[in-house]
Amino acid sequence: MKQLDGARVLLTGASGRIGTVAVPHLRKAGAHVTTLSIQENPDLEADRVLIGDTRSQEDVAAALEGADLVVHLAALAHRDIAPPYDVYSTNVVSTFNVLAQAGAAGISRAVVAGSINAYGLPMNRHEVVPAYFPLDTDIPVDIADWYSLSKHHGESTARMAWRQWGIDVVTLRFPHVHNEKALLAQSREHAGDPRAGLREAWSYLHTADAARAIELSLTANTTGAHAFFLAANRTNAPYRTEDLLDAFAPDTPRLRRFVEREVPVDLTPARELIGFEAHHEIPVTTLDLPAAFR
Ligand SMILES: NC(=O)c1ccc[n+]([C@@H]2O[C@H](COP(=O)([O-])OP(=O)(O)OC[C@H]3O[C@@H](n4cnc5c(N)ncnc54)[C@H](O)[C@@H]3O)[C@@H](O)[C@H]2O)c1
Repeated sequence: MKQLDGARVLLTGASGRIGTVAVPHLRKAGAHVTTLSIQENPDLEADRVLIGDTRSQEDVAAALEGADLVVHLAALAHRDIAPPYDVYSTNVVSTFNVLAQAGAAGISRAVVAGSINAYGLPMNRHEVVPAYFPLDTDIPVDIADWYSLSKHHGESTARMAWRQWGIDVVTLRFPHVHNEKALLAQSREHAGDPRAGLREAWSYLHTADAARAIELSLTANTTGAHAFFLAANRTNAPYRTEDLLDAFAPDTPRLRRFVEREVPVDLTPARELIGFEAHHEIPVTTLDLPAAFR
């Protein structure tokens, strides 16, 4: 494990939900942070604040000046946030541009915001269910939307950048990331409609844990290009995981049994590669699954 103290970090997408928490977190850990955002945010406190577009070669080159490490979060972060062309092209061009320039400049390490959507099922318009539980990075992919495709291709870009320039890249496959209030609201939704959380395996992550995972990825000793899932250890649904799977995915193989509300996502790579364990769990009381769902 290396130290972040004094490291110069470029962070893109700094004005967003994760960036606004990650920037002060990294600064507190001793990093000098340059931010690259497409719009002004008067509340953003960084060592160097740049306004620019991650699709632009010039903007990214200027932002990378003097950087030791890169955190790339900028993206159009949902399928429906903009027309399909814009979502796909912004995300894949930005990831390519940032990693290719960082790699060519000799920067040793980058952390990229991937997504649970890289395996394609959460936003899939068809009635598909995961091939097995727990979700892991070997699970069969079925992509039917441009946002998921962009996140899937982002992982290939990371591998290419490592193979071409030797830049080590950690792609964090974030699940739904938010503050406690919003996560609790989603938990209440899943209490009333548990099926809605099935394809995300009822997983979530607090923004503070996302920021910590970014720090751990920057300081980990891993080399190469890795992508893996992250989540809180327990689900955001108030019901036992085995009961949920019995009710909503009875024919889907389980590679092991899940204890109480254990999240059915393989968190082993996150533990082994970056030493990550979520610290922030939302307060949810475990209930029996109502008979109406059985
Ligand atoms: N929050 C989640 O639940 C979640 C889950 C999975 C993955 N992710 C990924 O994590 C990253 C950060 O997510 P977030 O929730 O903070 O999203 P967000 O939408 O709040 O922030 C993304 C930021 O990127 C900026 N951006 C978009 N296009 C840009 C461009 N061309 N140039 C520069 N900046 C640009 C946006 O203005 C925004 O400030 C994204 O890559 C997203 O896909 C988020």
